[in-house]
Amino acid sequence: MQTTIVGDVMDTRTDIDYLFEPRGVAVIGASQNSAKIGYQVVENIVQRGYKGRIYPINPKGGEVLGLKIYPDLSAVEGDVDIAVITIPARFVFDAVKECAAKHVKHVLIITSGFSEVGNAEEERKIVAYAREHGMRVLGPNIFGIYSAAASLDATFGPGGILPGRVAIITQSGALGIAMIGKTAAESLGLSALVSIGNKSDIDESDVLEYLTRDEATKVILMYIEGVKHGSRLVGMLKEVARKKHVIVIKSGRSRRGAMAAASHTGSLAGADEIFDSIMRQCGVLRAENVQDAFNWAHFLADAPLPKGKESVIVTNGGGIGVLATDACEKYGVDLYDNQAVLKDTFAPVMPSFGSSKNPVDLTGQATAEDYKRSLEAMLANDDMHAAIALYCETALFDTDSFADLLRVEYQHYKEKKPIIFSLFGGEKLEAIVRKLRAEGIPVFSDVYDGISSLGALYRSWRNLNAPAEVAEDVQIDVAAAEAILDRAREEKRGFLLANEAQQMAKVLGLSMPRSILASNLDEAVRAARTIGYPVVMKVVSKDIIHKSDAGGVALDLVSEKEVIDAYQAIMRSCRAYKADALIQGVEVVEMVKPGVETIIGARQDASFGPIVMFGLGGIYVEVMKDVAFRAAPISRREAHAMVSDIRSYPLLLGVRGEKRKDIDGIVDVAIKLGAVVDKCRDITDIEINPLVVYEHGQGVKAVDVRILFQTTREVR
Ligand code: ACO
Repeated sequence: MQTTIVGDVMDTRTDIDYLFEPRGVAVIGASQNSAKIGYQVVENIVQRGYKGRIYPINPKGGEVLGLKIYPDLSAVEGDVDIAVITIPARFVFDAVKECAAKHVKHVLIITSGFSEVGNAEEERKIVAYAREHGMRVLGPNIFGIYSAAASLDATFGPGGILPGRVAIITQSGALGIAMIGKTAAESLGLSALVSIGNKSDIDESDVLEYLTRDEATKVILMYIEGVKHGSRLVGMLKEVARKKHVIVIKSGRSRRGAMAAASHTGSLAGADEIFDSIMRQCGVLRAENVQDAFNWAHFLADAPLPKGKESVIVTNGGGIGVLATDACEKYGVDLYDNQAVLKDTFAPVMPSFGSSKNPVDLTGQATAEDYKRSLEAMLANDDMHAAIALYCETALFDTDSFADLLRVEYQHYKEKKPIIFSLFGGEKLEAIVRKLRAEGIPVFSDVYDGISSLGALYRSWRNLNAPAEVAEDVQIDVAAAEAILDRAREEKRGFLLANEAQQMAKVLGLSMPRSILASNLDEAVRAARTIGYPVVMKVVSKDIIHKSDAGGVALDLVSEKEVIDAYQAIMRSCRAYKADALIQGVEVVEMVKPGVETIIGARQDASFGPIVMFGLGGIYVEVMKDVAFRAAPISRREAHAMVSDIRSYPLLLGVRGEKRKDIDGIVDVAIKLGAVVDKCRDITDIEINPLVVYEHGQGVKAVDVRILFQTTREVR
């Protein structure tokens, strides 16, 4: 934030504001050659009608597009808030130094040839210099920026950007440039378009900081390839998505970039599942592809927020009505179901052969007049919160006047409730779809596209109405936790042994089965007697991590004889598994009552920092990959949402007469694990497998806790 006096006016803009509302723009590498990027940028700035001062820079001097070319920045007399750099990579650092001398606020480096091709050192050097001199860097490897607030198109895109309410942030340059053409073709107006390229300094979060305050921006569409500073992005997205619609397209659904398989939790899912879960946590709409994202952005930019969740479908075709009903279920759009009101509303305006159930089916015999009257009955009814109007081409309609009918109804009701139209038919109808879409009317050829857009509005609406999430305040004795890790570090270990994990569980207040460490057979027998049968016995050895694989676990031991036999069997098989393993003894543990086995964990994710995960144990996790994630620390509601995100959630609610399980118990553990990986960043993985969950009110039990950590303490 800065406060300066500009003329007589107090200037309280934050630095990022100057990126979008600069007083002067320099183009370093401005060329008179129209084939060069340095020319195209100047041309776009001029053509878009930027009101501030434009300073083309080129040592050759001369003029470009009627503007004087300055030999260098020092020759410029006015303020330069942004400098767009369009010269080869080897000259960029010197140009950045010139910018610093001129007190430029933002350098936009269009030039490629930096970290994206392995030249990371040069990029780091430039950013370090810029930051030291109070400048921010956008790029490198970008196509520029468009800002409606300043009528500025400082890109080398095709031009023709329409001003509007959608802001686009893109990591991909080529895709971003293509989006410029697409927005023009689809009459989608933009408030801003920012190419962030290599994100060497300015990233999505910085841009969001401006966009969240920008009143012109109603929808933010982001194309992301990779997340660098995930914790900050999560915080920013949570804030923005409660004010505006946020859509994200992320490439890389494959397992590329999967979590490091340091623990079982890590091997469960690739980065994409984590990204998906966390976007849901933030209230961000994730689009599968660019077309969906554009459809949603277009619709959300103009649609009013609904006053309730119940939609009505009016159709002249039964089949398309059924398809629409399916689509509503798929995209989470609720249908109005008060049959008496539906009958009262539509009977007077419906032909005798129609059906007033929702979908309201006028059948193929309906005339344009029947259609109009039904449409108006739906639009005028305040209890019907969103309108879905479908039409299949028939000979009974005059297709030409049909466009007028839709236009008039839309104009009349567009502020009152969300409306989507879907028209299906021949070339004439397709032409109407194109024409009305160009006018900004939400008309779709495919009913699924329309209802997917309405579903996006409803998902975003629920989030806009949700209270802000505040992470639970969990008191954790960090010093006690670190002390346990330090003792293990003395033995150069990055994992805890069973007894240490028990101590850690105690620090975290996790309920674990009773357990006693026995260093010989006699102690094992005594321990079993103290705990009470049945018991479990597990080998304790720093050289054996996967105890079951080594034959180091015996379950359900019900007598002294079984304890003796199991002890001897464990020792035999562990020695066979690893002859030189140092075995400290066995852990004798209370055999827990059966319940629903779940797996819960937390870790430091390379992109998002501390995260929590949850899933049902056994095949659900291993085969079905039915897991959910959240960025930590989490609120109670976020923990509940994570638990209910998994597909097998109904099993926790109780099926086939079974009682509801102790979901609150799971939530408590999730909150604690989230807090511990947030507060102790040295802990890289913590996994409870299984966490046995009993009936509601009976609690949960952490049967096995595995903890991995850095062998050197992180300095914070
Ligand atoms: N100050 C001012 N002007 C300078 C300086 C300087 N220090 N040094 C050179 N110039 C002038 C040059 O003389 C030239 O002007 P001229 O046409 O009058 O001779 C102009 O700046 C440009 O320099 P060139 O050497 O001609 O460089 P060229 O224009 O061929 O390429 C560019 C520069 C475009 C930055 C190139 O290096 C590059 O990186 N291209 C890729 C850009 C890109 O794709 N970015 C990502 C976008 S997103 C996507 O993927 C599509």
